[in-house]
Amino acid sequence: MALDHRIQLGQYGAPLHRIAHVSDTHFLGGRRPLYGAVDTDGHLARALEQLERSGRRPEAIVITGDLADLGEPEAYERLRSQLEPVADRMGSRIIWVMGNHDEREPYSSILFGEEPSADPQDRVYDLDGLRIISLDSTVPGYHHGEVTDQQLDWLQEVLAFPAAHGTLLALHHPPLPSPVETMAILELQEQERLAEVLEGSDVRAILAGHLHYATHGTFAGIPVSVAAATCYTIDTSGPPDALLGVDGGQSITLVDVYPHAVVHSVVPVTSAPQVTGFDGAVLERLAAMTPHERREAFSHKASTFTLLDVEGGSRES
Ligand SMILES: [Fe+2]
Ligand SMILES: [Fe+2]
Repeated sequence: MALDHRIQLGQYGAPLHRIAHVSDTHFLGGRRPLYGAVDTDGHLARALEQLERSGRRPEAIVITGDLADLGEPEAYERLRSQLEPVADRMGSRIIWVMGNHDEREPYSSILFGEEPSADPQDRVYDLDGLRIISLDSTVPGYHHGEVTDQQLDWLQEVLAFPAAHGTLLALHHPPLPSPVETMAILELQEQERLAEVLEGSDVRAILAGHLHYATHGTFAGIPVSVAAATCYTIDTSGPPDALLGVDGGQSITLVDVYPHAVVHSVVPVTSAPQVTGFDGAVLERLAAMTPHERREAFSHKASTFTLLDVEGGSRES
């Protein structure tokens, strides 16, 4: 199903599915600032505002864990009440994923309206042919990650039948190494067991969080995309033996699923001033041209096409 009414100017049509990938909101009860300094609610609000203004209407917002910093019920309630109206307006469903800072009992009862449960919180969603699996990689009482034998058996059964448009696996702990050495202590354990289950399956991408910086890699031949946190981020330019958490650099990720590709685009959460660009009127003029005219107008280095539209006359890249 094509989601966007979009003018096709290149070789790709509209994506079959568009997902917003958000991670690590770390809300505290009573809207207490995280580490006494971070406005977790304000940063998420800014991220959602940018997502909504993009007009892209994602089918789902996947939020890959560490929803509440201390598992406090009021933090989950506040997160729901902040996220749900935005999701409703965009027509998106919310796909929650457990993180090591979360607690299964309030997670299951407050976010799903179920009896409080201490069991792994694994769920499967079907978005018009795209399957999303929310896999609970948490270990009660600890911050490192683990997927139990029972969960792996369950995952294997789910993946035994491919989905029409393939599967995205969402879990908190990414099966990737990190340049931030201390994060290795908190990584997903025994990753080779998960790799065995995923090999040969229809999993097209793995969405994760936990690291608090955006990163990408591959696992068992499958692309892995880690969304940075919306609360605070880890500065990967810190000394290798240090852990530098900073109130800046937050981002979310747009995931576009095409028939033969899954594309992850990082969206910085920022109020930085715009210095160049143009609006939709320019796109409409380009769309009205022939492909040759369009190339001459927008690709030719000597073209002055956008000069009329850009304050100060600087050429869009
Ligand atoms: Fe986190
Ligand atoms: Fe985490």
